[in-house]
Amino acid sequence: MQAMAEAVIPDTREFRFDDQDFAFLRDMVREQTGINLSEAKRELVYSRLSRRLRQLGLSGFSEYCALLQQGDAEELVRMVNALTTNLTAFFREQHHFDYLRQHLLPELVRHDDGRRRLRVWSAGCSTGQEPYSIAMVLAETLTDIENWDARILATDLDTDVLEFGRLGIYAQDKVDKIERARLQRWFLRGRDRNAGKVRVVSELRRLITFRQLNLIRKWPMRGPFDMIFCRNTLIYFDKETQRDLVARFSELLTPEGCLFLGHSESLHNVSEAFRLVGNTIYRRLS
Ligand SMILES: C[S@@+](CC[C@H](N)C(=O)[O-])C[C@H]1O[C@@H](n2cnc3c(N)ncnc32)[C@H](O)[C@@H]1O
Repeated sequence: MQAMAEAVIPDTREFRFDDQDFAFLRDMVREQTGINLSEAKRELVYSRLSRRLRQLGLSGFSEYCALLQQGDAEELVRMVNALTTNLTAFFREQHHFDYLRQHLLPELVRHDDGRRRLRVWSAGCSTGQEPYSIAMVLAETLTDIENWDARILATDLDTDVLEFGRLGIYAQDKVDKIERARLQRWFLRGRDRNAGKVRVVSELRRLITFRQLNLIRKWPMRGPFDMIFCRNTLIYFDKETQRDLVARFSELLTPEGCLFLGHSESLHNVSEAFRLVGNTIYRRLS
C-alpha cells in the first residue's frame, strides 16, 4: 500500500533530488569543509542549491552532481558558499565582549612586556560583525591603541562573506541594537547609492585582515594569539574534527590565552587543555 501511495503522488518539486544526489553532496561537503549535513538538512540543501540549478539552466540535481564530479572548481566554491550558515550579529553573546573589556584586556595591559603586541583570531568570522565588534572593544579599551601593534585576523571558508566583511558596509537594521554613542563613533552614514546603510570607519577596518582559510586544512599562521574567537562554527563539525581543531587552537594560543566558543558549544569531551572561566569562555592551561 505504502509503495502504491508513493507512486501516485506526483513530485511537485521543480527539480528531481533523490537519495543518491543528497548522499553525493553530503559526502562532498564533508570532504571539502568538514561540515556534517545530517538527514535533517536535506531540505536546506535543496532550497539553497535550487537557485544555482536555475541559474545554470539544469534540469535536475543529478546533472548538478555530475558537474561537481567533473571537478568544476568555480562551482565547488559556489556550492560551498551556498551551503555555509552565516548567521551572525554585532556583539552577539555580549558577555564575551564584557569579559574582553573587563578582564582580558586589562590583564594583557598589566602583563605587557613593552612590546604592546596583541593578536586576535576570529575563526569563522562570517560577514565581519564579530571581528568589528572585537575591534570596537579594543579601540575603546586601549585608549592609546595607535601605540599598540594590534591585529585581528578574520578568516572564513566562504569567499562571499569575506568580501562583505572587507567592505564593512551594513544595512541600518544590522546596527539598530548598537548603542547610539558607539554607532556615532564607529560608523559613517551612507549617501546616494549607500543611503540607508552604514560603513565601519577606516580606523577599525585597518585593524582587521580578512583571509580565506579552511579550518580543516593546514593553517599558515604561526601565532601566538592572545585570543581566538571560534563561535558557532565548531558545531557544524563532528567530535573528532572538533578535537583536532581545538588541539591546534591550543598550540597557537599564548599560555593563558583565551578561547571563546558559541553558546551551544563546549569543550566537554573535546579538550582537557583549557579551564572554563566564564560562560563558554576558556583559558589555555599554561
Ligand atoms: C554561524 S557562522 C558564525 C559567525 C560568527 N563566528 C558568530 O558567532 O556570529 C559560521 C561560519 O563558519 C564558516 N565555516 C564553516 N565551515 C568552515 C570551515 N571548514 N572553515 C572555515 N570556516 C568555516 C561559515 O562559512 C560561517 O561563516
